[in-house]
Amino acid sequence: MDRFLIQGGEPLQGTVSTARAKNAVLPLLAACLLTEDTCTIKDVPALEDVNTMLKLLRLIGVRIEQENRTVHLTAQGKLNHEAPYDIVRKMRASYYVLGPLLARFGTCRVSLPGGCAIGPRPVDLHIKGVTALGAKVAVERGYIHARAKKLNGNTMMLEGYKGPSVGATINTMMAATLARGETVIEGAACEPEVVDLANFLNAMGARISGAGTPEIRIQGVKQLSGTTHRPIADRIEAGTFAVAAAITRGTVQITDCQPEHLTAVLTKLKEIGARIAIDQTSIQVEMKSRPRATKISTAPYPGFPTDLQAQFTALLTIAAGTSTITENIFESRFLHALELNRMGASIDINGNMAVIHGVEKLQGAQVMASDLRASAALVLAGLAARGKTEILRIYHLDRGYEHLEKKIARLGGKIKRIKPT
Ligand code: UD1
Repeated sequence: MDRFLIQGGEPLQGTVSTARAKNAVLPLLAACLLTEDTCTIKDVPALEDVNTMLKLLRLIGVRIEQENRTVHLTAQGKLNHEAPYDIVRKMRASYYVLGPLLARFGTCRVSLPGGCAIGPRPVDLHIKGVTALGAKVAVERGYIHARAKKLNGNTMMLEGYKGPSVGATINTMMAATLARGETVIEGAACEPEVVDLANFLNAMGARISGAGTPEIRIQGVKQLSGTTHRPIADRIEAGTFAVAAAITRGTVQITDCQPEHLTAVLTKLKEIGARIAIDQTSIQVEMKSRPRATKISTAPYPGFPTDLQAQFTALLTIAAGTSTITENIFESRFLHALELNRMGASIDINGNMAVIHGVEKLQGAQVMASDLRASAALVLAGLAARGKTEILRIYHLDRGYEHLEKKIARLGGKIKRIKPT
């Protein structure tokens, strides 16, 4: 297994460009199942999660051609209607084939996902969405089997007790594009990735309005056709580089991104002492002093994203004073805190709250990555720490960050990937 070696202490300086969003690309790829025409997705990032989704689509029978970063997908001919355990256990977003397969072929079998390092991740809302459209859903030998001769539009409240679900909103929206009549999803997730998918589906001929608000309306159409799309920028990658600038007290210009998707994050960075300058497609982050302590509470978009919680935890370990972070989306998402403590941080976990007592400096150590964003937090901590940090199990990082170490090295960070001998 690859690992990272980091020599901390270098302020990051320079310009880094943002990849397209993993969380937008994955549903876009699955949405290509909704038509037999060819769809083209441009600028697809080289990520393990993307490879996993492409593998699943190939297993289903989708013809896939890749030229550099452009992917052409054609879901034509005889297709399988199953997402096997082996793939779903690696990546929960495999669930995105449920809505399209059901809508187009009237049947779909998707393995139940099982455990996850960031806590329970139920799929009840995905089932609620397609059931409201008339599908019959049964759990058989670890698989969800959904069936429907024809889906029918309906009005539903899709919000769960933790708030709206990005995944369930996306799945239901995709299924409803080919349903008979009108679907109204109330309590819909408002994330920019939902909007990106709606724009893509509308370009394919769907009739969706209200994406980006809690009420999405979908007029079902008979069929969809092919289109070409370049996904939105990865706001989580951009946010991670913003924290990288702040934690190393550097100056980084993050280009090809959408600053309006990071308002809550940039507001927090300003509050703790960073200087932020934005224009339409770039963000400059400059940090000259030790960060101030703050309080953060994760929330659905446009609130503070759970996917940047771990990175901010790393940043606040070296803040002046005591900070708190309350995790409201995935309550057990604090495994990184224990590893950060091994680097000299002082974090207490009380239920879904981390109390972070700021220390002057972190010290390099050998640490273990536990999930995608936790891995990013350890890299950030390593960049700021005194001495050497070794991060094991970085395969988690490769799922969602494209060439992270190369991008950091170009900004002057001392980081190396070590391959097993
Ligand atoms: C997506 C993102 C993930 C991000 C998360 C929250 C992708 C591929 N992943 O995950 O990076 O951290 O949004 O912004 O886009 N829930 C239920 N029942 C369900 C589904 C979800 O109770 O059927 C709960 C979850 O346990 C969680 C909350 O709803 O507490 C939000 O989860 P959800 O928005 O569905 O996350 P994902 O779509 O899995």
